[in-house]
Amino acid sequence: MENRVFNFNPGPATLPLSVLEKVQAELLNYQGEGLSILEMSHRSKAFDDIVNRAVESTKKVMGFGDQYTVLFLQGGATSQFAAVPLNLALEGKPTQYINTGSWSKKAIAEAQKLGFEPQVIASSAEDNFSHIPRSFTVDSNASYLHITSNNTIFGTQWQDYPDTGEVPLVCDMSSDLYCRRFNPNKFALIYAGAQKNAGPAGVTIVIIRNDMLERSHDDIPTILNYKIFAEKNSLYNTPNCFGIYVVGLVMDWILGQGGIDAVEKINRRKSEMIYETIDGTDFFRSTAARDSRSMMNVTFRLPNEDLEKKFVSEATEAGLVGLKGHRSVGGIRASIYNAMPLAGVEALVDFMKNFEKVNG
Ligand SMILES: Cc1ncc(COP(=O)(O)O)c(C=O)c1O
Repeated sequence: MENRVFNFNPGPATLPLSVLEKVQAELLNYQGEGLSILEMSHRSKAFDDIVNRAVESTKKVMGFGDQYTVLFLQGGATSQFAAVPLNLALEGKPTQYINTGSWSKKAIAEAQKLGFEPQVIASSAEDNFSHIPRSFTVDSNASYLHITSNNTIFGTQWQDYPDTGEVPLVCDMSSDLYCRRFNPNKFALIYAGAQKNAGPAGVTIVIIRNDMLERSHDDIPTILNYKIFAEKNSLYNTPNCFGIYVVGLVMDWILGQGGIDAVEKINRRKSEMIYETIDGTDFFRSTAARDSRSMMNVTFRLPNEDLEKKFVSEATEAGLVGLKGHRSVGGIRASIYNAMPLAGVEALVDFMKNFEKVNG
């Protein structure tokens, strides 16, 4: 479609064009209901079908079995920083965290604020979060271990998830859920703000193993109570109806691309193209250690900040938007989620090479 830029923003982020077109086509009259999804009651049969289909596809993409429940909540991934300890912490069993960057820190700070005394068992803070910690020991008595799968700001990502034995593994997958295959059975709980790889802002995906639901007590705020939302199929109160509908469409889009393996293959190719361009010259410098590089957010520096500013502004003029690094770290960040087409990455790589030629 004409006039659409290549959107490298970290989130809200680019969505598949075919999904946007379907939303547009169905907007005024959703499947013959005579009204828009934006106007539809969340207690209607039509909306029930939308939620059920979105749940089903969310499970199907990665093969989550019957022992998992999908919830569509509100409040963003940030709400889960509080919801996780409130629901899952057990008396006398410590909550444990691995600190891999700004979002992990926020999760830890929230648990602290709520009085859970989170234990940080590993951190890469001393190396400015340029890698994922390589060794750590989880307390076998822990309530859970919390990790952040992909560090959107620092451009690092767990390449393999740790084995935590009987200790429930809880993972913030906000910026890489559905970018690659993983073994779903490793996880007790996964959460993600949808607005990067899975849909629009305003809907928060929680995938929880059913035995964890027994931990939610009545005395926590209802809006954060996993058990109550599971019993009501995410419809305890008015949900983000539109957001859930779009998440369902994005999941179907992944399945239509050939499923998670096909999507992973192209994601690997896209990220390798940029990393190869960075590694092929001294002009660009990768900020993430090789063994921890993210497939979703590629972060790099140029020789100086003036050149970085020029890079971002000329890229924007060339229709490549959203490349400015996070304000806390600077530099350049190319967020290349599932819906970023290969053509967008090809255009970025060409732009990088030309920019170096002129300014190098
Ligand atoms: C890894 C990660 N966790 C949490 C968040 C916070 O998400 P939200 O804005 O949905 O609360 C973000 C946002 O960028 C993120 O990248």
